[in-house]
Amino acid sequence: MDIARTPSIADGNPQMADAPPVPAQPPLIRRADYKPFPWLVPETRLHFDLGIENTRVVSTLKVVPNPDAAADDVIRLNGDGLQVSSVKLDGLPVKNWEMDGPDLVLPLSAGAHEIEIVNDVSPEKNSQLMGLYASNGMLCTQCEAEGFRRITFFPDRPDILSTYLVKMEGPVAQFPVLLSNGNKVSAGESAGGRHWAEWHDPWPKPSYLFALVAGDLVARTDSFTTMSGREVDLAVWVRAEDLPRTEHAMDSLKKSMKWDEEAFGREYDLDVFNIVAVSDFNMGAMENKGLNVFNTKYVLADPDTATDGDYDAIEGVIGHEYFHNWSGNRVTCRDWFQLSLKEGFTVLRDQLFSQDMQGEAVKRIEDVRVLRAVQFPEDSGPLAHPIRPDSFREISNFYTATVYNKGAEVLRMMRTMAGPVAFRQGTDLYFERHDGEAATCEDFVKAMEDGAGLDLRQFRLWYSQAGTPKVEVSLTHKGDTATLALKQTVPPTPDRIAKKPMPIPLRLALFDRDSGSHDGEQLVILSEAEKTIAFEGFARSPVLSINRGFSAPVSIEREVSTEDLVFLAAHDDDPFARYEAMQDLVVAHLVAVCSDSLTGAAQEAGRKAIAGALRKVLTDDRLDDSMRGELMMLPGQTYLAEQFLVADPGRIHAEREALKVALGVALESELIALHERASTLPATLDHASRGARKVKAQALVYLAAGNPDVAAKMAAAQYDAAQTMTDRQGALMVLTGLPGVARTDRLIDFYNRYRGNELVVDKWFALQASSLHPDAIEHVKALANHPDFNLRNPNRVRSLYMAFAGNPHAFHAASGEGYRMIADLILALDPINPQTAARFVPPLGRWRRIEPQRAALMRAELERIAATDGLSRDTYEQVTRSLG
Ligand code: PHE
Ligand code: ZN
Repeated sequence: MDIARTPSIADGNPQMADAPPVPAQPPLIRRADYKPFPWLVPETRLHFDLGIENTRVVSTLKVVPNPDAAADDVIRLNGDGLQVSSVKLDGLPVKNWEMDGPDLVLPLSAGAHEIEIVNDVSPEKNSQLMGLYASNGMLCTQCEAEGFRRITFFPDRPDILSTYLVKMEGPVAQFPVLLSNGNKVSAGESAGGRHWAEWHDPWPKPSYLFALVAGDLVARTDSFTTMSGREVDLAVWVRAEDLPRTEHAMDSLKKSMKWDEEAFGREYDLDVFNIVAVSDFNMGAMENKGLNVFNTKYVLADPDTATDGDYDAIEGVIGHEYFHNWSGNRVTCRDWFQLSLKEGFTVLRDQLFSQDMQGEAVKRIEDVRVLRAVQFPEDSGPLAHPIRPDSFREISNFYTATVYNKGAEVLRMMRTMAGPVAFRQGTDLYFERHDGEAATCEDFVKAMEDGAGLDLRQFRLWYSQAGTPKVEVSLTHKGDTATLALKQTVPPTPDRIAKKPMPIPLRLALFDRDSGSHDGEQLVILSEAEKTIAFEGFARSPVLSINRGFSAPVSIEREVSTEDLVFLAAHDDDPFARYEAMQDLVVAHLVAVCSDSLTGAAQEAGRKAIAGALRKVLTDDRLDDSMRGELMMLPGQTYLAEQFLVADPGRIHAEREALKVALGVALESELIALHERASTLPATLDHASRGARKVKAQALVYLAAGNPDVAAKMAAAQYDAAQTMTDRQGALMVLTGLPGVARTDRLIDFYNRYRGNELVVDKWFALQASSLHPDAIEHVKALANHPDFNLRNPNRVRSLYMAFAGNPHAFHAASGEGYRMIADLILALDPINPQTAARFVPPLGRWRRIEPQRAALMRAELERIAATDGLSRDTYEQVTRSLG
């Protein structure tokens, strides 16, 4: 099924005729090899005769020689699994084309030409969900990164910009709604119950931004007046039964449009903006020009079926895709190595948007938590790559936390160094200079230097060096001088051993122990390997708060007393730093416990200090609940594992749970009081009520550890009285981990209450797969045979198996059974949906950083996958890199 990989005789490639079978080694594509394409395609016309089993595509391309490229006497049009029906050149049928592997190569003389190609595709057979596919009876497309070549032959690379005129035709009853990019220019009925529509997108775009949707959909509509007074018609298209759950998505869209005008001066540029929700989707959503296609998960919400977290995620993803209209569409990427140019920038934009909507402090903490849980392990493992990679075999594997989230952190550092006003001047200049172009990361950096007045010569290393820098910090005190010593190292990664120091902007403050305050924050930029800075006027040794607001994506290593951390957890005026002090307190303790470096008495003292700090968090009535909820969260398993060169996941999990038990016991009355107080707030969506729901869930987590019987009763009561999904899911999460009847009854109730609602049934699968229940593995095996489980739906697969792969006690079961289950899943899913299958490789790829017995079991599973014939390019690349 993976035609792209092995050229064969049938492809008509003469050199292949006598050659021995080629080992399945997909080629390595290198950034350094970029060459402009010899031809330009100023205009593209597409005609679709739509059908679920078969869709006929007629594509007409205007091509002209590219004045900026070396001339060529052929044009190579990419295809992927396509069969040609006919080719015309300048209106006449031609036969002198040939297939070279999956691509069509056509001889072409200098000058302008028109190429017409007819081919058929089968949406119903497309289980990869790339190209044109069927989902619940509707047709839709996904083209990023290289899906357009699965629809028709085309120079499928982001530096080929074309205007699109798209005509679609099909049965009215089956496809009453016909959508594509841009504006609808005409529509009409044709014979035999058929109709058609024609859409024109005046903005030249790369093929990865093409989209088409045809189906039985209904819309919530609204309108937005842009800053220059243009009216834009907005629509969110869903299945009829989902219409009541579209209000939040529409609100989020209008807020995004307004915010981008105010924060970045960006105005929308078409008369319509359509969003379509699709339940079979590989990723979160896609920014196709004027026609964003979304996973239903990031569109549909009401209080009964979506959690507060879901509401925020929807707002963030709607913002993200909308913001791509400028950072991605108006200015696109020259090649896929520049992916962070659009993704890192757009993630930063969506983070700043959500900060403005939800509150800066909590959003920053959440973003850092994701970075540490997902990107840090990536950066310290076999799949580490710079935010601008140098090579790949399958680009789908590079839609990573590094390109997205670390990419955003790199831009955020520029913003921290320049200040928000100058940073905006930099982005203004970038948009002005490169509007309508396919640009590079270098273009962005240059615009930032010129527009913001920064010198980024050394800073460019952040684009080429992978690995999370480590900064060793020590503070000494003598007389009235405090001396800060900083030392940075960028760790070796598989791509490169020797690294250079990078500029690391560190926001810091020195607190006076007596007054609990400081004289103002400073920004120190650590550009050299080592640096010391003296601060005068400190009669007593101050308390250092460093990397405030997480000003740099680094790991800070320092000897710091428990006393200082307790001080910062209670006094720091930077909310992130306060959170960080709580995390550090727990991380230091658990690392020491897991390394057997504490006496019983020292361990007791450590627990006491943590309990004391947490008690303050629970009872400090100046804290708002939303922030309190953050401060209550224990560091996650993956972040803890990152602290060890070689981690024992079983031990880390056990010690983390033991600490929860100790805290639950020590703080039982405070936790119950907090839960009671928070339960008095109304079930509304305002900030205070949302904060209350967050602390309720956290309180139950600790109580479930400390006093399971009491917690089970409280959780069952919360479940039964729940008026929101947040309360219901929070209670069920705790119950799912506690063996007993309350658990079984509520799980059955939950399923019966929401059966038929795919997104909520996903939650039901995920809760059981991620639970603390000792039999979680058995539960997952049973759920894999549940009638609602379906390998063809990525959301469902993720809800069971991603949740499972993130469940430390189950995935890392000492028997190796968890590893085997994930490997079996990869092998079963790879032939159906390679892109999604490959996303399950990284959890197994961590083996080098895991204790030897488990490491051997993980490695054996990777080897079993690697030894399988016919692997997709996606899975092949991830598995070989992970073993390499
Ligand atoms: N470009 C999309 C986004 O970040 C992500 C995506 C990539 C979606 C590839 C589908 C396929 O918004
Ligand atoms: Zn994006």
